[in-house]
Amino acid sequence: MNSEDLKRQAAARALEFVSDGMKLGLGTGSTAKHFVELLGEKVRAGLKVIGVPTSESTRADAERCGVPLGSLDEIEHLDLTVDGADEIDPQLNLIKGGGGALLREKIVAAASDRMIVIADDSKWVETLGRFPLPIEVIPFGIAATRREIAEVLAAHGLTGRLELRTVRTGPNHGLGFVTDGSHWIVDAHLGAIPDAPALAASLAAIPGVVEHGLFIGLASAAVLAGSNGIRVIERPRAAI
Ligand code: A5P
Repeated sequence: MNSEDLKRQAAARALEFVSDGMKLGLGTGSTAKHFVELLGEKVRAGLKVIGVPTSESTRADAERCGVPLGSLDEIEHLDLTVDGADEIDPQLNLIKGGGGALLREKIVAAASDRMIVIADDSKWVETLGRFPLPIEVIPFGIAATRREIAEVLAAHGLTGRLELRTVRTGPNHGLGFVTDGSHWIVDAHLGAIPDAPALAASLAAIPGVVEHGLFIGLASAAVLAGSNGIRVIERPRAAI
């Protein structure tokens, strides 16, 4: 089975958590796209839901699939968000933002009662950090912000390349990547992040950093599809 099949299986399983009348956060990325397509099939069969998209690309997908949409300005609180991830650790802390939508993804996840992460099981890791950590920054003062990011990383014992993201495919290939919020992304190649919650707090305190891709304590459950079947993993209770 290829990874697209696995992603679709995870998306289909997550659909079982959706019920009539729910207000849903709709994630971004190739796995979330499967979820939006499958949700669209249910909507066409009569399911009543309202979705809040986490990117302009997901908005376009949802409109194409006939999923009714609203915004967080009208709907302040969501029942459930279903989204993909770039890495998932055993505490269900995540790295997100490979697709560049981390800011809206985090706002939407934080406004939801529950966030369910869907992925093929290649995303499961013991320690976050092999995937480069996306850090969304304001273009103004980028050099100063980058220096502060490097200092924060060093204070956490982390080293690695900081790379300003460029567009990876299509006609704009090689140009600077611009997020839906008109910001830029610095990808931090760290290898491993032993204390993700501590790093998350430090990065969030840098003035030019709008948001970063560490999602700490936001996911309630992960649906992981692998060649041996589907696992649903609930977030472990925090130790007191
Ligand atoms: C989008 O910004 C990301 O957070 C995605 O959710 C993440 O990159 C996972 O994408 P895939 O489902 O395409 O792997």
